[in-house]
Amino acid sequence: MKPIAENPLLHSMQASEMFLQKISPGSNPNTELVVSSEGGVNRQLFKSAVNIRTQHFGNEVYPRGVVEISNYCNLNCLYCGMRKDNLTINRYRLGHNEIVQIALSMEQHGIKSIMLQSGDDYTYPIASLVKTVHAIRKETDLRVILCLGERKRADLEAMLKAGANMYVLKLETPNPILFQKLRPSTTFERRLNQLKFMKKIGYQISSGFIVGLPEQTHHEIFEGLMLLKDLRVDAASVSPFIPNEGSPLKNEPFGSLELSLYFLAQMRIHLQGVYIPAVSAFSLLHKDGQALAMNAGANVITINFTPKTNAKQYLMYSEKRNPVSLERARELILSLGMTSSILQIN
Ligand code: 5AD
Repeated sequence: MKPIAENPLLHSMQASEMFLQKISPGSNPNTELVVSSEGGVNRQLFKSAVNIRTQHFGNEVYPRGVVEISNYCNLNCLYCGMRKDNLTINRYRLGHNEIVQIALSMEQHGIKSIMLQSGDDYTYPIASLVKTVHAIRKETDLRVILCLGERKRADLEAMLKAGANMYVLKLETPNPILFQKLRPSTTFERRLNQLKFMKKIGYQISSGFIVGLPEQTHHEIFEGLMLLKDLRVDAASVSPFIPNEGSPLKNEPFGSLELSLYFLAQMRIHLQGVYIPAVSAFSLLHKDGQALAMNAGANVITINFTPKTNAKQYLMYSEKRNPVSLERARELILSLGMTSSILQIN
């Protein structure tokens, strides 16, 4: 058997046990000691995570473009500023032609996938979504990723048939009781079933967790990672919790940067070759937050192509949201000494 230091999986399990021993089982990530990213455990863990990333993706950062097609939402999630009851934001929907134009411009800039994202906007006409997915697949070489919330099975099937490749549906927190508290009128089970259904019919699936939600425990998040492994997700993410002005959790503490990076590295080690974005929420905790996420094992950067006036109204994290521009993505990739198709095009 290899010595522990050379076996990343064993090493990570040891590290996580050491880490979990330092904290009491029911503790909240934000109130407990976190092993410093300067300290031994995380540094070794990040190194192992980056090694695994390199085995699967070389030195390449995968560029994904997002267009936020609607900020209408039927739900009232306690952590989200786009919740239905937030009457202070202007709601918008982008239409078919506008979205297709944006897709064409993404392709010209070397982007490989387009993500169509919205709130749980059940009144956005499904026929229009199907038409848009179909047109993007026909007119570009982009892969289509959908992040449109919980949908009827018939709608999911129709969008898959139109050419959609992947669906992102975050579990947000793996504890069904906390899930229900934070997302009234929805259930963990329903969301999990949607993920399973999508995988079965042929979507690639992506899911993930917010780290640092009130009442959440470390053990839950770790169990959540194992659940993602069982689901055989193709992509996965960790987002630090960002208290949002327009939400009931606005006065709660931010999620911990170290802990979010720790779980990102664990995600890479346990889920191996999945796509993991360095989400922009990391940049709200630290100016180099996304670089730190890449150095903990992420391999995807999501570049925002939503028209500027609309992007201001897309309040998923907070008003201080910091959408990634092409220029910032290029600077980030260069600063990390990595490569990407967005660097090869002017
Ligand atoms: N903090 C961190 N992540 C959040 N998201 C939504 N609100 C927050 C928040 N306050 C994430 C969720 C959601 C994704 C679109 O953004 O994971 O699925």
